[in-house]
Amino acid sequence: MKTTPVTHIIQLGYGKVGGPLVHLVVENRERIACETGVHLEYAAVVRSSSVAQGDDLALRAADRGASFDEWTPRAPGLTLDVLDPVFDRFGLPDTTRYALVDVTATAETGPLLLEALAMGIPVVTANKIPLAETSGWFEQARAASRHAHTPFRYECTVGASLPVISTLVDLMTTGDTIQRIVALPSSSLSCILGSFNRGLPLEEAIVEAVRRGFAEPNPLTDLAGRDALRKIVILAKTMGLSTSIGDVSQEPLLDRDYPDFAAFRGDGMARLADRLTAARQTGMVTYYVGSASTDGAVTLGLRNFPQASIWGTLEPSENLFLFSAARFGDLPIIVRGIGGGPILTASGVLADVIKAAQGQN
Ligand SMILES: NC(=O)c1ccc[n+]([C@@H]2O[C@H](COP(=O)([O-])OP(=O)(O)OC[C@H]3O[C@@H](n4cnc5c(N)ncnc54)[C@H](OP(=O)(O)O)[C@@H]3O)[C@@H](O)[C@H]2O)c1
Repeated sequence: MKTTPVTHIIQLGYGKVGGPLVHLVVENRERIACETGVHLEYAAVVRSSSVAQGDDLALRAADRGASFDEWTPRAPGLTLDVLDPVFDRFGLPDTTRYALVDVTATAETGPLLLEALAMGIPVVTANKIPLAETSGWFEQARAASRHAHTPFRYECTVGASLPVISTLVDLMTTGDTIQRIVALPSSSLSCILGSFNRGLPLEEAIVEAVRRGFAEPNPLTDLAGRDALRKIVILAKTMGLSTSIGDVSQEPLLDRDYPDFAAFRGDGMARLADRLTAARQTGMVTYYVGSASTDGAVTLGLRNFPQASIWGTLEPSENLFLFSAARFGDLPIIVRGIGGGPILTASGVLADVIKAAQGQN
C-alpha cells in the first residue's frame, strides 16, 4: 500500500459533532494509517473565539473533553489570517497535505472554505449553511474543486454518514441521469410524524423527539422545516439543478411565526394536529417530504404514502432517500437509515477526511 505523508487537519468547530470527531480521529488513526496509508494529525481546532494548535493539544482535548484552559483566545472573523499561524508552524510547501474541516453551523466559514479550495486545500464540510443559503457558493466551490482537482466533500450535510451524496455522485460520474429524488431528510420530522402516524398525540410525539435528542430543545426550529429545506436544496444542486433556497415550493408546517414553543403549544399545536389528521387518509402514512426532478421542480411538503409501501416500514427518526435514475428504470435506488446524531455525523466526516486525504473528489 502506498503510504502518504501526514495530513494536517484544521478543524473549524468543536461542538456536538466536532468534539466526537477529535476523539474518533485520535482513537482510530493508527488503524486508519495501517489500512489506508493515510496519516492524520491535528494542526488546529478553531472555535468561535479561541484556537488550539497542534496535535498534542487535540490529544489533550480528546482526553479531557471540553476543557479549554489551554486554548488561545482569537479575534472574531474567519479570514485566511486565521490559518497563518498554522501555516507558519506546519509549512506551506504542499497545500494538499492539509484538510480543512467545517463542523460549525455558520455562514461565516463560507469565504474561508472557498479560499482554501482555490489554494488547493481539500475541504470537508458537514455545515449546510454556505452550500444551501449563500447564493452561488455551492457552484463556486464545485468549480474551484474541479479546476484544481482539489477534494470538496460534503457527504454529511445530508443524511449524516448515510451514503447519500456519494451514491448520487457515483451515478452521475458514470454517466447515469438522475431523473428524480424523493427524500425524507429530517430525522426530527421523521421522528415526530412517524410517532404521530403510529397514533401518538402530536404534543407527545414532539416531546418524545426532543427527549430522544432528534429535535432541538426548541422544536419550533425543526417544525419550521429549514433544515429539511437546506437538505433538499443541496440534493437538487448535486443532481445538477440551479435551485436556490427561494426556488423551492415549500408548504410550511407552521401556520405562522411563533416567538417560542410556549406560544405554539395550545392553539398552534391543535391547528397543526388538525391539519395532519385531515391530511392523513386511511391506510396511508404522512411525512414531510422533499422532491427534486430533472424538469427543475423542487418541492417540500406533506405527502401521503400507502402504509403497505416502504414508507409504512420506517421507524420514527429514520431517513429515506429514493433516487430514480435512467439506468435503473422504474425501480428507484433506496438509501435509508439513521441520518443524524453527533457520533454518526462525526464518523461520516472522518470517512470524508480519509477520502479527501487520498485525493478523492
Ligand atoms: N448534530 C448532528 O446530528 C448533525 C448531523 C448532520 C450535520 N450536522 C451539522 O454539523 C455542524 C455542527 O453541528 P453541531 O451539532 O456540532 O453544532 P454545535 O454543537 O452548535 O457546534 C458548533 C461549533 O461551531 C463553532 N463556531 C461557531 N461559529 C464559529 C466561527 N465563526 N468560527 C469557528 N468556530 C465557530 C462553535 O464554537 P464555540 O464552541 O466557541 O461556540 C462550536 O464549537 C452543523 O452545521 C450541523 O448542521 C450536525
